[in-house]
Amino acid sequence: MTGLNRRPVSRRALLKGSAALTAASAVPTSWAIAQAKPVKVGLMLPYSGTFAKLGENITFAIELVIAEKGGKLGGRELQIIKLDDESKPENAPQNADRLVKRDQVDVLIGTVHSGVQMGIHKVVTESGTLTIVPNAGNDVVTRAQCAKNVFRTSFTNWQPAYGMGLALGKKNVKKAAWITWDYAAGNDMGAGFKQGLEKSGGQVVQELKLPFPQTNFQPLLAQIPGLNVEAVGAFFAGGGAVQFVKEYAAAGIKVPLCGPGFLTEGTLGAQGAAAEGIETALHYGDGLDNPKNVAFRKAFREKAGRDADVYAVQGYDAAQLLAIGLEAVKGKIEDEANLYKALRAAKIESPRGPISFSPSQNVVHNIYVRKATSGENKVIGIAAESLADPGTGCKLA
Ligand code: BEZ
Repeated sequence: MTGLNRRPVSRRALLKGSAALTAASAVPTSWAIAQAKPVKVGLMLPYSGTFAKLGENITFAIELVIAEKGGKLGGRELQIIKLDDESKPENAPQNADRLVKRDQVDVLIGTVHSGVQMGIHKVVTESGTLTIVPNAGNDVVTRAQCAKNVFRTSFTNWQPAYGMGLALGKKNVKKAAWITWDYAAGNDMGAGFKQGLEKSGGQVVQELKLPFPQTNFQPLLAQIPGLNVEAVGAFFAGGGAVQFVKEYAAAGIKVPLCGPGFLTEGTLGAQGAAAEGIETALHYGDGLDNPKNVAFRKAFREKAGRDADVYAVQGYDAAQLLAIGLEAVKGKIEDEANLYKALRAAKIESPRGPISFSPSQNVVHNIYVRKATSGENKVIGIAAESLADPGTGCKLA
C-alpha cells in the first residue's frame, strides 16, 4: 500500500508534494473530486404496513444488481439511504423533501403506492432529481404530468388491467364487476379493465370499493351473487390481497375471480388453496423460461431466502436502468443530457423478457395471462405483446 492510500491527503499537501508531478496532474479538479464521492441513491419505499414485503423485495433486487456490478455503477460507489414511506400519502411530500433537500440524493428510487408517488412527483418535478419508479402505477405520472427526470420500470396501472379486460373478452365474457381499494391504483386499473373488456363488447356493470388499506370486505362480497356477472375483476395487493382472496373463497362465491396479477403476486404461499385456478394478467410469471429469469430467481432466492416476484423484477430493472445511465456517462451523473439520452434509449434484458421505454418514459413490455397452479403463477398465454401505455397528454418528444 502506498502512503497516498494509507491516509487522506489534503489538497494543500498535494500542492506541496512531489516535485516530479506537475500541478495540473497532481491537483484534483472539482470534477475529479465529485467523481470520488459516492452517488447518493434514496430508496423511498414501504418497509411497514400492507405493502412492506413489496418494498423489501424491490430493495433486495436493487442490492443484487449493485453486488453483481461489483459495488459500483459507472465506476462510482453508491451510498444507499432508505426511508420507510409506510404507504402514507399524507407524509409523502415531507418524506421526499427529506431525501431531496436534507440528504441531497442524486437519484430517488420510489415508490410502491400510487398516492405516495404523487407526493414524490411534486417534489422531484420541482427539484429535477432523477427518479425511477419501481412499482407505483398511477397513469398520470407518465401521461399528462410526465417529466424529463422521471422514468418507470414497473407499469402503468392501465397496462395489466387493460390486458386482463382483453383476456376476458377473448373468453366471451360480457358482464363483469370490479372490486378494489378506492385510490388512484384501483381506479386507474378499473378504467383499464373496463376499456379492455369493452373492446369485445363486454361491460363492467358494477364497481365496489373500500378505502385503502381497509380489509372489511364482507359487505362488498355479500353483493356479488346478486350482480348476475360472469367474472369479478379485483385489484388488491400484498397483505390485503391475501385476505381478500381467502375471504372470497370462504364466502363460496361461484363467479370466477380475476384481475391484474397483483392479486396473486408474492402471496400464493399465504393464500393457499383459496388462490388455486385464479387467472390474472401481468408483465411477469414465475416460470418464464428465459436465461435471465432463471439466473435472477436463483440469485434472488439466495439473497432474500424467498422466491422472486414481480416487485423484485421491477426493482432489479430500476437498478439495471440506473446502471445503463451511469455507465453511459462514466459515472458523471451531472452530465444530464447524455444521462437522459441513455436512459430513454435503454433496451434491457429483464427477467420478464425484453423491455424498452415509451416516449413518456414508461416501460414497454408483454402482458402475460397466468393461472395460479400449485403455488405458482404459471404463464398460460399472452394478453398483449410489447404493450406501451398511450402516454396521453405527455409532451416529451
Ligand atoms: C399502486 O399503488 O400503484 C400499486 C400498489 C401495489 C401494487 C400495484 C400497484
